[in-house]
Amino acid sequence: MAGTTVGRITDNLAILRVDDSSTHYFEGLWEIPEGITYNAYLLDTGEGFILFDGWKRVYASELLRILEGLLDPGDLKYIVVHHMEPDHTGSLPLVASWARDAKILGHPMAFKIMGGRVAAERFRPVRDGEELALGGYKLKFIYAPWIHWPETMFTYVEGDSVLLTCDAFGGYGIPRAVFDDECRDMDWYLYTAKKYLVTVVGRYRGFVVKALDKLSKLGVEPSIVAPGHGLVWRKDPRLIMDHYRRISSGELVEGKAVVVYASMYGSTERLALHAAKALSQAGYRVSVYGFTDSKRPSIADTLADIADSELLVIALPTYEADPYPLIEYLVGLICEKASAPRRAAVLGSYSWGGVGAKAIASMLEKCGHKVVYVGERQRIHATLREVEEEVESLLKAVGSPRGA
Ligand code: FEO
Repeated sequence: MAGTTVGRITDNLAILRVDDSSTHYFEGLWEIPEGITYNAYLLDTGEGFILFDGWKRVYASELLRILEGLLDPGDLKYIVVHHMEPDHTGSLPLVASWARDAKILGHPMAFKIMGGRVAAERFRPVRDGEELALGGYKLKFIYAPWIHWPETMFTYVEGDSVLLTCDAFGGYGIPRAVFDDECRDMDWYLYTAKKYLVTVVGRYRGFVVKALDKLSKLGVEPSIVAPGHGLVWRKDPRLIMDHYRRISSGELVEGKAVVVYASMYGSTERLALHAAKALSQAGYRVSVYGFTDSKRPSIADTLADIADSELLVIALPTYEADPYPLIEYLVGLICEKASAPRRAAVLGSYSWGGVGAKAIASMLEKCGHKVVYVGERQRIHATLREVEEEVESLLKAVGSPRGA
């Protein structure tokens, strides 16, 4: 059974969290051995309850069991849907059928995406900036499109100064803590947040910056940021907001290099590892991800690591007159989710047709990289001297790390 937490965020706002360690590939794509949490929130206004978001469908009965222990169905006045992706709305049909009088509030587009899962008369679209007063509380709904679907919005709970943000400012992982000030490994958590942002929201990261600017313009400076995944931020909400801004705006870490390679029979691996060693000796902090006949790194971690690296080196063989398929797939994802004006170099293992490196260099250039070196003179049975010469040429083109 999944772990669940019912905890207090403020006097009248509770977090309802479920820890999902059964999902190994989030969205069927992203490797998450660290797991993920789904956070719903329940506000007791004194004149009825408001539920914000929900859990994945597989945990719907568990969420309902918790709600049944906290309130009568007639006391649930509203269910606010910030984002329709089913990790937050899988439980909605069950909860809505339990609390039959609760209105469902969301972006007008949310109802279209809902596709008849609840009756139309139950749904009440809200406008950007619209306010709702209930009991002693005033809520403001703030559209935040494309974080991570077009219908996404935040709720600002005035008075308590809590910003409920669903996907935005969330992270992978199942932290033992609920709050940032209780987290014992913030470096790990900030890494999982980066991995989450890059893989899930990466394509739309420009909208994260827009949403942050919009909050500033509105004068919303929350005391607490409460996302739909991971930690709740009460000690230092600026930390996660600034972290998201840095990654979303493509800020690169000086001296950080990532070497990615694919190798069928070892010759490209030899070239890539020589390059990694030489870069390290030149002062770069180097991570290496190699796809071979005996290992396959996590695509999600590879993307997360590349996202803020100032230098990317890719080594690949040509495969049936095309770039090696896994590298082509990965570079497609880099361009979609983690492109930046970083420097890039591409090394090819020639085999019988030297087209792979040039094609990958062209893909990288088209999505904003500055390709500083393309080498494709490597043969399958290259001598050590030939490998060293290729790496020397690479280093000459790449130079020392910025600031070194
Ligand atoms: Fe956590 Fe886009 O859903």
